[in-house]
Amino acid sequence: MFAQGLLEGKIILVTGGRSGIGYKIAASCLSYGATVYMTSRNEEKLNKAAEKLSEMGTCYAIAGDIRNIERVQEIAAYIKKKSGRLDILVNNAGGQYPSPAKDISYNGWNAVINNNLNGTWYMTQTMANTFFIPQNNGKILNIIANIYRGFPGMVHTGAARAGVENMTKTLAVEWSRYQININAIAPGVIQSTGLEQYPPELLKDVSDRIPLKRLGSTQEVADLTIFLVSPMASFITGETVYIDGGQRLWGDVFEF
Ligand SMILES: NC(=O)c1ccc[n+]([C@@H]2O[C@H](COP(=O)([O-])OP(=O)(O)OC[C@H]3O[C@@H](n4cnc5c(N)ncnc54)[C@H](OP(=O)(O)O)[C@@H]3O)[C@@H](O)[C@H]2O)c1
Repeated sequence: MFAQGLLEGKIILVTGGRSGIGYKIAASCLSYGATVYMTSRNEEKLNKAAEKLSEMGTCYAIAGDIRNIERVQEIAAYIKKKSGRLDILVNNAGGQYPSPAKDISYNGWNAVINNNLNGTWYMTQTMANTFFIPQNNGKILNIIANIYRGFPGMVHTGAARAGVENMTKTLAVEWSRYQININAIAPGVIQSTGLEQYPPELLKDVSDRIPLKRLGSTQEVADLTIFLVSPMASFITGETVYIDGGQRLWGDVFEF
């Protein structure tokens, strides 16, 4: 798709890289010549994924929960010790569950906000302070969700992702003096492992409610990621790019 060696020599951290969209992003980064670090909570599955990806290039696994600031700092220290620097952070780890807003528990709300907003912030600030700011160089890419018209049926993640989108704009300006680009991708419904946790009835005929009449693929999200973290997009910062087959502009995807 892009030039071979586009990311040659780059050191990239992909959170949630063991499955779905994150896995495909990690595989694409490797295929363009980068060294990839991946993190996620399930160490066994993470190691298995990294082992498979190692056939394509240098891929390291370091397990951790993005909500645990001490662990996030350890991950930064591990990368520093091994590679000496980090060029690109892809904040992909996250998750949510469908629920009418009125039924979301205190714990459920906090779990989703902690994961999708706080965890993303811990990663972002830690990697910026450890690497990007001192290096005077870096790229951050946040995977959020389609929040264009709110997120009926998943208010917790809508609020968390809107927070990340706003953070993306703020940091694009504040950290421009350090030559840091920060952008976001807002996927619509992507055929990925993340969909497995949704009840099948929620996803029934979902393609019919998307203008392009299909789900997106993890490869399409990975290709957009590669573009945004590559030199091709070096004058783009503070932007959110939707990849949703037109879904944000038309109708409701989920019944709620
Ligand atoms: N698929 C879609 O249609 C869609 C649409 C919009 C947005 N998204 C978002 O895109 C991202 C990837 O989605 P996906 O479909 O590929 O889902 P997925 O397969 O469930 O991927 C989520 C990944 O994040 C990791 N993770 C979750 N919480 C974590 C935590 N606290 N610390 C570290 N790692 C954590 C998971 O691994 P562990 O369980 O091992 O931690 C997993 O590898 C997610 O943020 C998702 O919400 C997906």
